[in-house]
Amino acid sequence: MPTPNHSPVIAWTPEMSVGVAALDDDHRIIVGLINKLADAQDLNDAGMIEAVLDSLAIYVDEHFQREEEYMESVGFPHLTEHRVKHRDLTEKVEQIRLDFFLGNRDSIGEYTFAFLKEWLRQHILIEDMQYNPNRPQ
Ligand SMILES: [Fe+2]
Repeated sequence: MPTPNHSPVIAWTPEMSVGVAALDDDHRIIVGLINKLADAQDLNDAGMIEAVLDSLAIYVDEHFQREEEYMESVGFPHLTEHRVKHRDLTEKVEQIRLDFFLGNRDSIGEYTFAFLKEWLRQHILIEDMQYNPNRPQ
């Protein structure tokens, strides 16, 4: 099997730690799935793209539930707004999947990678960071 030779689309870095191990693990897995999507794209493997998009949709959903449960458990004050941001991304990922399936595409656009990468980075660094229990008050 050919090995993709691009650098990762996105990398998890310690500055992205939200101070909750299970949620950091989730974020690393999501970062991994976005990179796997880029690998599938490089390999021109439509079946793999489809499978990774399925995994991404399922995992993002599970992660958001876990994160919202955590925020609820600690009485995070911005939960309602945060939920809205999560729902927006869930819908966006669903749209990317539908565009791929219904459009009979065999690739994902560069703009989609740019969007996923930027959304994830910004969401973790700005929005998720607000619930970081280690963050200076
Ligand atoms: Fe979040």
